[in-house]
Amino acid sequence: MVLGLPTALLAVLSTIILSPVAVHAVDLETVLAGQANLTTFRGLIKNHTDIFANLPKGVTVAVPNDNAFRKLGNWEAYNESTVAATLKYHILTETIDMPSIEKGDSVWASTTLTGEKFSNVTGGQRLILTKQPGGEVVFTSGFATRGTVLVEDLPFDNGLVQVIDSVMRVPETLESTARSAYTDLTAFVGALYATDLMSEVVKHKDLTIFAPRNTAFQQLAGALENMDKEKLKRVLHYHIVPGQLAHVWELKNASALGTAEKGKKVSVTRHTNFIYINSAEIIQADILVANGLVHMIDNVLNPDLAGARPDVTLTTAQAPVFTPVGATATGTTVPTPFASDLPCTASCPVAPPAAKPTGSGGGAGDAPSSNAGVAPARCTGLAGAGVGIGLIVGAIMVAL
Ligand SMILES: *[C@@H]1O[C@H](CO)[C@@H](O)[C@H](O)[C@H]1NC(C)=O
Ligand SMILES: *[C@@H]1O[C@H](CO)[C@@H](O)[C@H](O)[C@H]1NC(C)=O
Ligand SMILES: *[C@@H]1O[C@H](CO)[C@@H](O)[C@H](O)[C@H]1NC(C)=O
Ligand SMILES: *[C@@H]1O[C@H](CO)[C@@H](O)[C@H](O)[C@H]1NC(C)=O
Ligand SMILES: *[C@@H]1O[C@H](CO)[C@@H](O)[C@H](O)[C@H]1NC(C)=O
Repeated sequence: MVLGLPTALLAVLSTIILSPVAVHAVDLETVLAGQANLTTFRGLIKNHTDIFANLPKGVTVAVPNDNAFRKLGNWEAYNESTVAATLKYHILTETIDMPSIEKGDSVWASTTLTGEKFSNVTGGQRLILTKQPGGEVVFTSGFATRGTVLVEDLPFDNGLVQVIDSVMRVPETLESTARSAYTDLTAFVGALYATDLMSEVVKHKDLTIFAPRNTAFQQLAGALENMDKEKLKRVLHYHIVPGQLAHVWELKNASALGTAEKGKKVSVTRHTNFIYINSAEIIQADILVANGLVHMIDNVLNPDLAGARPDVTLTTAQAPVFTPVGATATGTTVPTPFASDLPCTASCPVAPPAAKPTGSGGGAGDAPSSNAGVAPARCTGLAGAGVGIGLIVGAIMVAL
């Protein structure tokens, strides 16, 4: 039928069909200028033509609004190199439109932030895009900093703009993430230092780390601290999956992941909204770090009990898979194991011995007290345990 149309009419038709593309052929600055409250980001684009004039073809630019920069508080303190890295982290290497993400689904998006100085993740440091059950899309970055898309899918001549309400934070090392945002992981980080494994962990790319929270170590009392170093190394290696970024939605029921402990795998069990690694429950998923991602778990994994599986009918926590040493002294009143193995940072005054804490602490909804039992005379910079971890877990579980 089309064949029978006069050429003139065809020309008109093709103009009509092509015109939406023509309308979108405006540059990034023009599109942003048409929106309120994006002046800070527009200024950054002007100042960083090196980045924005050389974008790959077909990108998505996450644009924090002015209030997002105000909320961040310390943007002025960012130096040139961290500003540039942060901008590159806001540019996704693909054009991703928000309606293409299904409710409850997540997309693991590569960004233009590459290079060992800021990212040891193959294909550029990632952002996680999750569509909430209500339909809004949330971007997740380092330190579990999240931003909600306020204005979606603004087209420009090289892709799409998503206006977000928070500045995305470039993921940092496991140690720095534990020190400043996830203080519930300091026992694990301390144990990596105690076994000289930290330097190994830092230099690897694409790791998935199952990191037990502090109370998981505390409930074992001395079992791990009294272990010889080689054996403890095996235990810690068993928590690390090398060469694989296994985000939570890829952890399939009854699948197994090879660990850095040769020949030993961990197994995944999914039951309703719960996800277990062997018998340990994931209590916070997908914490982005410079060289991969971390899932926080509520028990220490044992390479000699790789067959441990959860009793999914239990409403309480699963039993530990190590025999506690000095069983009378378990619980959160025990000082955090390996805390003293964390190196002191420059801004680290010597604290007076802490008073013996009272509260029970430890539960996910109890996050502020999970720092209970810090060893005396160690870095006070670690105070203020991961506030709101319970809420974050809640949000993740909804998103699953
Ligand atoms: C822009 O910001 C101002 C001040 O915060 C606010 O009153 C206004 O509603 C914002 N405009 C839009 C379109 O978001
Ligand atoms: C852009 O650069 C100018 C000159 O260095 C500076 O005054 C201004 O604050 C910068 N703008 C932004 C948004 O960083
Ligand atoms: C910029 O700031 C970061 C983080 O605060 C710091 O690690 C880095 O050394 C600084 N770079 C320069 C060139 O000052
Ligand atoms: C990436 O790995 C290299 C060595 O393999 C290391 O020097 C660098 O600090 C790492 N980068 C980050 C951001 O951790
Ligand atoms: C998960 O796997 C286990 C055993 O491998 C099986 O018993 C269970 O039914 C599976 N659960 C689901 C939800 O498929």
